[in-house]
Amino acid sequence: MSRAAEPILLTPGPLTTSAAVKQAMLRDWGSRDPDFEALTRFVLAELLGIANAGSGHVAVPIQGSGTYAVEAMIGTLARRDGRMLVLTNGAYGQRMIAIARGVGLDVTDYAVPETQVHDPAELRRRLAADPSIRSVGVVHCETTSGILNPVESFADIVGEAGRDLYVDSMSAFGAIPVDARRLRFAGLAASANKCLQGVPGIAFVICPEDRLAEAKGRSPSLVLDLEAQHRQLLADGQWRFTPPTHIVAALAEAIRELAAEGGPAARLARYRKNSRILIEGMRGLGFDSLLADEVQSPIIASFAEPAADWFAFPAFYERLKTMGFAIYAGKMKVGGTFRVGSIGAVDPNTMTDFVACVERTVAAMKEGR
Ligand SMILES: Cc1ncc(COP(=O)(O)O)c(C=O)c1O
Repeated sequence: MSRAAEPILLTPGPLTTSAAVKQAMLRDWGSRDPDFEALTRFVLAELLGIANAGSGHVAVPIQGSGTYAVEAMIGTLARRDGRMLVLTNGAYGQRMIAIARGVGLDVTDYAVPETQVHDPAELRRRLAADPSIRSVGVVHCETTSGILNPVESFADIVGEAGRDLYVDSMSAFGAIPVDARRLRFAGLAASANKCLQGVPGIAFVICPEDRLAEAKGRSPSLVLDLEAQHRQLLADGQWRFTPPTHIVAALAEAIRELAAEGGPAARLARYRKNSRILIEGMRGLGFDSLLADEVQSPIIASFAEPAADWFAFPAFYERLKTMGFAIYAGKMKVGGTFRVGSIGAVDPNTMTDFVACVERTVAAMKEGR
């Protein structure tokens, strides 16, 4: 397939996967076959390893995209004897609010602008001021802008205040370190198709095993009941409903590749290089990035569209696509932005190529070619 026919995805996921990950989906698996049960066990054990989690934690898979796991996490684990405080600085924090309300929780919002992170002292103050807050939700990397939220400092405050922390680590897990021995969370959700570099269709939640056990019967949903899914897997190695067999096989391969790369630290180092080339290159071409360097994640960056007659995002997108790159539309409230990801099976050479293509595209658009 030519590059233009299958563009490189500079997106937050689904993203460009390796040939071996795609290849892994060519085999059919019997969902009740011992080989597939072993594959599931391998994947879940490895996910716990990536989170540095010991025997007190479990990883529970859920069929579907990332939102399914966030909803399964809140619906199954969040205690109903109090409110949930959600720290929001983008659309995924807002989505967590919608999920929490949907499962019947009373929710309160601590919102800051999309380009800012929350003040830990203000979080401490809010928790002290409102004893009815039982749980706190936070998005690790807020993919709306690409901002990296300081989850560790929030976790300490939430833990010290005796509340439960729920982390949407969707676009961070696999590259941004998660150390379950230090990071006190009651649940952490992520999916296969972002920094793990698998394909979409499976997501998962990591949580303390005792918290899962006490949640028996709490989920308002049949299919998103993590406790029931875990109990079934323990009992006979089976998923409760048809598992996405090929996607689990692709994730197993992606996890092997992560280990071969040197684990999350090595992946993060590659993403950082990618991101630096991208952001410096784009700035060199006159594109402003929306976030300050101190809060910019190495996952995805938002850029302001040039306020000039020659620029129109749809044309910019199409031209880059014919050159072999698919980028992402903006999602920030300010409007007039677009996003470019630096994750997936892409390396610094890819990013250098991309910046060169942007330069050529800008020159052509300015000249009206
Ligand atoms: C931070 C974050 N949370 C949740 C999601 C889940 O979205 P989806 O259900 O589309 O996979 C995403 C996807 O981009 C995300 O970036």
